Amino acid sequence: MLGRVNHIALAVPNLDVAVARYRDSLGATVSVPQPLPEHGVTVVFVVFDNTKVELLEPLGENSSIAGFLAKNPDGGMHHICYEVTDILAARDHLKAAGARILGSGEPKIGAHGNPVLFLHPKDFFGTLVELEEVKG
Ligand code: CO
Repeated sequence: MLGRVNHIALAVPNLDVAVARYRDSLGATVSVPQPLPEHGVTVVFVVFDNTKVELLEPLGENSSIAGFLAKNPDGGMHHICYEVTDILAARDHLKAAGARILGSGEPKIGAHGNPVLFLHPKDFFGTLVELEEVKG
């Protein structure tokens, strides 16, 4: 069911500081910041040959990562994103297996313009899992 690891996401308290650290200290290629109000975050992607690291900063009053940063003020690993070719089929398969889908259970459009869903961390050993539909 799973394809590649699309990205690993880190919540950071200050995106400018995090971008400077990755770009200037590590010499990495970092995308321009992209606000995603529907997800309550601003994101950049650090681009690697084999995957991406997503840096997330809270956006707005009810950010989905505010609670995480309250518990982890220095930031930390927030979720891992796996690619699937059919997100509704993957969702239905997981629901039938007893996994919990966060939010409405309907996919939202993520940072790459593709449908995404999040799976409850308690069902995946303490790690929040994002599924992203990537065709072919
Ligand atoms: Co993500």
